[in-house]
Amino acid sequence: MVQWQFVSICVSLALYANAAPTWPSTMDELEDIMFLNTGYRAKGFSTEVTPCSFSSKGPGRITAAEWIRTAFHDMIAGVVSSTAGGMDASIMYETKALENIGTAFNSSLLNFAPFFSSRSSMADLIAMGMYTAVRSCGGPVIPIRTGRIDATRSGATAFVPQPQNSVGTFQNQFNRVGFNLSDMIAVTACGHTTGGVHAAFFPEIVPAGTAPDDFAQFDKTATFDTKIATDFLANNSTDPLVVGPSTKNTRDSDGRIFKADNNVTITSLTNPDTFRSTCARVLQKLIDVVPTSVRLTDPLIPYEAKPIALQLRLLDGGSSMAFTGEIRIRTTTRSAAQIASVQLVYRDRTGGNVCGACTIDASTEAGRANGFDDSFSFFSFASQIQANSSISSFNIAVTRTDGQQEIFDNNGAGYPVQDSIILQSPQSCIKDSASPDKKNMTIVAAVRDETATLPVNTSLVFKVARRNVPIDIPALSVESYTMSKQYTVGPYSLYALAYALNTSQALNTVFNVSAGAGASRLTDAFKLTSDLPSECCYHHAAPTPTPTFASNYQGCYIDSVSGRALNGSATNDHLTLTLANCATFCSEYSFYGLEYTYQCFCGNTLNSVLAPEYDCNMPCSGDDKEICGGPDRLSVYQNEAYIAPANPPIEGYEYKACYVDMRSARVLGPVVISDDTGLTVGECKDYCNGSRYFGTEYGRECWCGNELGPSATVAPESDCFTRCAGDRATLCGAPDRLSLYQWVDAKASRDR
Ligand SMILES: *[C@@H]1O[C@H](CO)[C@@H](O)[C@H](O)[C@H]1NC(C)=O
Ligand SMILES: *[C@@H]1O[C@H](CO)[C@@H](O)[C@H](O)[C@H]1NC(C)=O
Ligand SMILES: *[C@@H]1O[C@H](CO)[C@@H](O)[C@H](O)[C@H]1NC(C)=O
Ligand SMILES: *[C@@H]1O[C@H](CO)[C@@H](O)[C@H](O)[C@H]1NC(C)=O
Ligand SMILES: *[C@@H]1O[C@H](CO)[C@@H](O)[C@H](O)[C@H]1NC(C)=O
Ligand SMILES: *[C@@H]1O[C@H](CO)[C@@H](O)[C@H](O)[C@H]1NC(C)=O
Ligand SMILES: *[C@@H]1O[C@H](CO)[C@@H](O)[C@H](O)[C@H]1NC(C)=O
Ligand SMILES: *[C@@H]1O[C@H](CO)[C@@H](O)[C@H](O)[C@H]1NC(C)=O
Ligand SMILES: *[C@@H]1O[C@H](CO)[C@@H](O)[C@H](O)[C@H]1NC(C)=O
Ligand SMILES: *[C@@H]1O[C@H](CO)[C@@H](O)[C@H](O)[C@H]1NC(C)=O
Ligand SMILES: *[C@@H]1O[C@H](CO)[C@@H](O)[C@H](O)[C@H]1NC(C)=O
Ligand SMILES: *[C@@H]1O[C@H](CO)[C@@H](O)[C@H](O)[C@H]1NC(C)=O
Repeated sequence: MVQWQFVSICVSLALYANAAPTWPSTMDELEDIMFLNTGYRAKGFSTEVTPCSFSSKGPGRITAAEWIRTAFHDMIAGVVSSTAGGMDASIMYETKALENIGTAFNSSLLNFAPFFSSRSSMADLIAMGMYTAVRSCGGPVIPIRTGRIDATRSGATAFVPQPQNSVGTFQNQFNRVGFNLSDMIAVTACGHTTGGVHAAFFPEIVPAGTAPDDFAQFDKTATFDTKIATDFLANNSTDPLVVGPSTKNTRDSDGRIFKADNNVTITSLTNPDTFRSTCARVLQKLIDVVPTSVRLTDPLIPYEAKPIALQLRLLDGGSSMAFTGEIRIRTTTRSAAQIASVQLVYRDRTGGNVCGACTIDASTEAGRANGFDDSFSFFSFASQIQANSSISSFNIAVTRTDGQQEIFDNNGAGYPVQDSIILQSPQSCIKDSASPDKKNMTIVAAVRDETATLPVNTSLVFKVARRNVPIDIPALSVESYTMSKQYTVGPYSLYALAYALNTSQALNTVFNVSAGAGASRLTDAFKLTSDLPSECCYHHAAPTPTPTFASNYQGCYIDSVSGRALNGSATNDHLTLTLANCATFCSEYSFYGLEYTYQCFCGNTLNSVLAPEYDCNMPCSGDDKEICGGPDRLSVYQNEAYIAPANPPIEGYEYKACYVDMRSARVLGPVVISDDTGLTVGECKDYCNGSRYFGTEYGRECWCGNELGPSATVAPESDCFTRCAGDRATLCGAPDRLSLYQWVDAKASRDR
């Protein structure tokens, strides 16, 4: 009986004001993108802006500044309390607009595109870019609320401020999106604490050849600091929108904006604390300008404990299931070194506790990751649970090295696990097809009969070309298919869909499998086609038959093409492989093993280590009731059909020993028979016509003689291991080894 010791958890939430989300949440993908910058399972969203001053795009580029500018230009083409505009990624359609001159938008959007999915809109990613760029430059945390919806066409680019606009025009443009005069001044200063102006696009402001790399920075530092304000008030600004040619052609927009309230706001921003808090407020306000129809979530904060990649998988004829995954623990407030163990304490599918202390150990640390302000450790587990009792939810118990225990219960409800419909990844796969443009994809799902509300569907979310955008930002296209019932395994029925997938989409398609419709629809969601194996078992009724382990069963062993567990003979048999057939094929070896439904391997030594038993769960091609390993997994047996080779009794002769026999020093000679297919020991004796000695070598040679060579040397008996070509149950020497027989009477006369 486990004695839980509860402790009050003092989690520092200084950075994060609101409560942790309840898992699973629509924000889960964006939470990873926000907090997993580097390390294990990192999303790497911050890579292009780390460090802040770095740009992979060439000299005179500050990617962090470009991301901030992209958010602003996307937002400003909108009207607050309108049904359209604001942060809606409409800038994807606007990069050719005169108001959006420059390469910054193209390249920022291309930075964001790989992260685009059904769980992370381009508009949310542009907002996330604001947090990431500002934080990378040492600025404050900009709270990120999610739920922005991408536009499907261009917005009102005429609203984008241009340097030559009057202050009154600027005020109108900002008022439309809810910014009053002081907020307009603040957001201009906060946005221009990093970045600058390129001569190539604004020659009236920065004439070619007047700035290094033809790029004039606003305040000479890339970091998020007050210099933009302090330099201005000291009459010492280098901002090209304050001083220089822009003052002659009224393109000195920053200078005119900063002065617009008699320097009140810009003066307040010279205080570093005020600068950070004001910038956090106005930059959040900027990214939260959305159409009235959009409801933003609470700001994202990192989970203290988050389940990762949970997967149920039906095994063994349906009597048990594998349950695998990882638990991500936030180690910002409790160090990884303080964590002694992580456990899942689970409830069965009725919410009860059939197994007593239903715990799964997850204490193996799989890796660590870091965000700007947080660190995380991942703990993995692989367990087996009974299919009949199954699982409905779990709590996470983290025991520290000092014995104290924290329980995470997902805001009270436990972390849910639905077992009504699950993806069966071993039975699913993507294979090459006859055409290089297509892959043959098979998706198999297991549905619990009692909940099998029809239809059982799979929804595929493809990345396809987006129409009417000048740059390569994909759109998502959804196709739903009804899966067809295959057969029943234990309490589950298996459903399958075969689909000809475009090869170009094989690595970036996301899919889910669902049962039922409307509110009662249950889903195993957000599976990646890139995670599917390249082989699956099409032909067999029961994918997971109940194994009946014989006494000679050795276990489920790890195997690979690069290092075979059994290194003797091997054969493939796609139609009729059974344990008995493999045993017979391997009759000359002491072990045999079966893999991946149709492969049979033989060997005399077992060069591998055991895998979890449930890894071997594929049926044999010749008998669905027998287990033939799994992918890279070998079901190994001691071979009861093994026939040990022997030196046969030969009338008038007796076996003497195994001799070393080499070209330079022959024991007998010369060779009288070389027979690759038919040699037997008896045949050799006959050929030697009563000579005192005869011997067999290399499985195929027969040697005769009346005397042994002068340097004849006895070798270890095990050296003579080669079976005779004409009688596989008998031994005929080996390479450079002779199985020597002696005439009995000769022995008698010599011994006399
Ligand atoms: C952005 O990319 C599009 C498509 O490649 C191109 O037509 C356009 O000129 C690019 N804009 C800039 C400023 O580079
Ligand atoms: C501008 O709006 C902010 C809130 O967004 C408010 O704190 C400030 O007082 C307003 N300033 C003026 C001049 O109205
Ligand atoms: C505001 O500051 C600028 C720069 O120092 C200065 O030129 C200007 O006169 C100031 N305006 C007022 C009203 O103080
Ligand atoms: C900057 O210049 C303005 C006008 O030329 C002047 O009023 C102000 O005092 C100057 N500020 C400083 C800090 O020199
Ligand atoms: C003006 O700025 C330069 C660098 O841009 C700096 O070296 C100098 O100290 C500044 N002068 C004042 C009065 O702040
Ligand atoms: C589940 O199955 C196992 C054997 O497979 C059995 O021992 C157990 O009693 C069953 N539990 C329930 C709740 O049916
Ligand atoms: C791909 O699937 C089609 C339709 O199911 C089938 O006819 C074809 O033989 C498959 N090709 C390969 C290479 O498996
Ligand atoms: C499954 O995919 C469909 C189609 O994209 C989508 O409507 C549905 O919300 C998805 N379900 C989940 C749980 O993600
Ligand atoms: C299931 O897929 C079919 C197409 O095969 C589609 O018509 C139907 O709307 C889908 N149902 C659900 C609930 O996804
Ligand atoms: C697959 O490629 C073909 C040919 O390019 C295209 O017509 C089809 O729409 C693509 N399928 C999907 C799901 O994008
Ligand atoms: C098979 O493995 C055994 C044990 O590692 C080794 O002694 C033997 O040489 C191997 N045989 C072959 C054919 O590689
Ligand atoms: C034994 O006799 C047979 C037939 O006479 C002959 O072909 C063979 O060469 C003889 N063997 C030896 C070793 O002399």
